[in-house]
Amino acid sequence: GTAAFVANRVRSQTDVTNCEATKKGNFKVCVCGGSGGIGQPLSLLMAMDPNVGELSVYDLTIAMVPPGGVAADLGHLETKVKVKGYAKSLDEKAIDVLGDCLKDCNLVLVPAGMPRKPGQTRDDLFKINAGIFNGIAKEVVEACAKYCPNAVVALVVNPVNSVVPAMAELYKKKGLNPKNIVGVTTLDCVRANKFVAEITGADPDDVEIPVIGGHAGVTIMPVFSQDKHGSKIPAKDIPALDKHVQDAGTDVVNAKNGKGSATLSMAFAGARLGKAVLAGLNGTPTTECAYVLSDVMPGLPYFTSKVTFGKNGVETVHPIGKLNQYEKERLEEAKAALKNEIQSGLDYAASNS
Ligand code: NAI
Repeated sequence: GTAAFVANRVRSQTDVTNCEATKKGNFKVCVCGGSGGIGQPLSLLMAMDPNVGELSVYDLTIAMVPPGGVAADLGHLETKVKVKGYAKSLDEKAIDVLGDCLKDCNLVLVPAGMPRKPGQTRDDLFKINAGIFNGIAKEVVEACAKYCPNAVVALVVNPVNSVVPAMAELYKKKGLNPKNIVGVTTLDCVRANKFVAEITGADPDDVEIPVIGGHAGVTIMPVFSQDKHGSKIPAKDIPALDKHVQDAGTDVVNAKNGKGSATLSMAFAGARLGKAVLAGLNGTPTTECAYVLSDVMPGLPYFTSKVTFGKNGVETVHPIGKLNQYEKERLEEAKAALKNEIQSGLDYAASNS
């Protein structure tokens, strides 16, 4: 139930001092696109996680800041973490640095790729980010399959709704666990929690709105009725709040006026998911919403719902729980849109095998 879900929250774990202290992990984490707008703050937040022993910062030699520079900078934090930078040259003859970068990684976070500009949808990015030419997602996921096949690969790169099915199918074909490919939708939960806390005056730490479906437009479906604060919001205010959560990413794109999309809040959210994965690997099962291969929704092989991360990564994909009438109708809308976006991912996988 919700109580157990709240108790499992990562952010509350650091506050638990009177429980039997779990020995901290010594995991290797890679941030692909670690010099980017999301990648830099995400690398910082992961370097601060006591479960991280080694952090690989991976990006292109032509990145805004060389990944070696980000690593040198983070290497001065007074924590146990060892930080190394890896730069990929676009020269075809250059040696492949991904081997050392990814070898024995437990978690690979992938915020590499082009962010949206005003007027662009997340779908517009698919050809650029998953495409054969500058196939960012494909290139990284194939390297993970080779060098760290058991790692959880958390894809931030948009459009998550299509990239995750495409990459999970790639894992299936290689005989690897497709559930190792996880779509990061945590930012939708972070936003829903914040907005509900602002409206109700509740402590944001005490708000837990599951956001199910997918990660774009109407597929982003906050389930306000399942939270004790969210359920108190008058029904007449829900459609606008629902829309506010869906459009929050676009609001940031527009406010940044062509200079990027959400980076800092995305890093916060990505780190929350990353820490949940590591807590699970370290023996404390931890639950967050995520977009994964799923059988909770007939007809939709990929879906966002609560996922418990354990010692082997994705352990349990939870059913969506009880919905009210408004949410039942919204679910139909979300399902129709998501079906098409999953299909573009599957088509991509079929034509790129
Ligand atoms: P950015 O342009 O600031 O950073 C991207 C980084 O990726 C750059 O440093 C770039 O050099 C690097 N990169 C590009 N190609 C690469 C390759 N082949 N190998 C390694 N690194 C490569 O972009 P930003 O704002 O950090 O966004 C990154 C991605 O995250 C975008 O696809 C964006 O749409 C997505 N995003 C997803 C969100 C979510 O909720 N899932 C929220 C916000 C953004």
